[in-house]
Formats: sequence, C-alpha cells, structure tokens
Amino acid sequence: MTITLPVRPLLLALALLVPPGAAAQETDPESGLVKAEGWEVVKANCTVCHSAQLVTQNSGSRNHWEKLIRWMQETQGLWQFRPEMEATILDYLAEHYGPKEGARRPPLPRQLMPDNPYASGDDAG
Ligand code: HEC
Repeated sequence: MTITLPVRPLLLALALLVPPGAAAQETDPESGLVKAEGWEVVKANCTVCHSAQLVTQNSGSRNHWEKLIRWMQETQGLWQFRPEMEATILDYLAEHYGPKEGARRPPLPRQLMPDNPYASGDDAG
C-alpha cells in the first residue's frame, strides 16, 4: 500500500502565503521603467534629455524627486509641469523608485570577512 502525501493542500497553503503583489513587476523593455500608473508620462517627459536609466537607477522619497525636478527646472532647462501632471510623476517615482530597502549593501561572503576573534579556533573556515 502506498502512502499518499497531502501535496495538494500543502501547495495551496504555500500559494496563499505569497502576496499577490509579490509577482515581478512588468517593465517597459525600451526604458526599463516599471509599467504602472503614470509610467508613460514619466517616459515621455523624463527620457528626453537623458537615458531612462538615470531615472531608474535613482531612488528616494517624493521630496527627493521633487527637489531633483526643481533642480533640473532651474538649471537644466526642464519645463514646468501642470500640477496634476507633476503629481502623477512624483507619485509614480516615489512609489516605484522610492527609498530603497535594499540600499544597505548585502552581507560580505564569509571568505571576505575578517577573522572572527570570538570564534573557537577549530571551526574557523
Ligand atoms: C530638459 C532636459 C531634462 C529633462 C526633460 C529631464 N532631465 Fe533629468 N537631468 C537633466 C540633466 C542635464 C541632468 C544631469 C545629467 C548628468 O549629470 O549627466 C539630469 C539628471 C537627472 C538625474 C540624476 C541626478 C543625479 O543626482 O545624478 C535624475 C535622477 C533625473 N535627471 C531624473 C529626471 C526625471 C525624473 C525627469 C522627468 C521628470 C527628468 N530627469 C527630465 C536634464 C533633464
């Protein structure tokens, strides 16, 4: 007699644990921008003078983005936006290129770490 493992309920339970938003975000292949509300406005306005990479590699709060836009307006010839359009752009940037949780560097691999002075000698790598 074979034992049937309850695989299906287990998979179902696991599937339920994954929040729907965890799926990888779709990005525009041309610009690399996350395709979400407002992305087309951002693409149309923010890739004119420089590559979209400058945008996608930057990140910060809404305030950070607003300051950047002001700086480009004052010194780089960026045009003024209608308030609703600016709000769309800032919402988009703050939401999808917000302060990075992963801004801390990843931990060093063990072999690059200094010797642990507290290690008990014999378990050192
Ligand atoms: C009128 C031209 C122009 C437009 C349009 C423009 N920028 Fe810029 N932006 C610049 C220039 C010039 C720089 C400086 C580039 C450099 O340092 O090589 C810059 C730099 C940047 C940087 C890098 C800042 C840093 O600290 O290095 C970011 C991020 C950025 N822009 C985002 C945007 C966003 C978002 C938009 C759309 C709202 C936008 N840009 C639209 C001209 C523009």
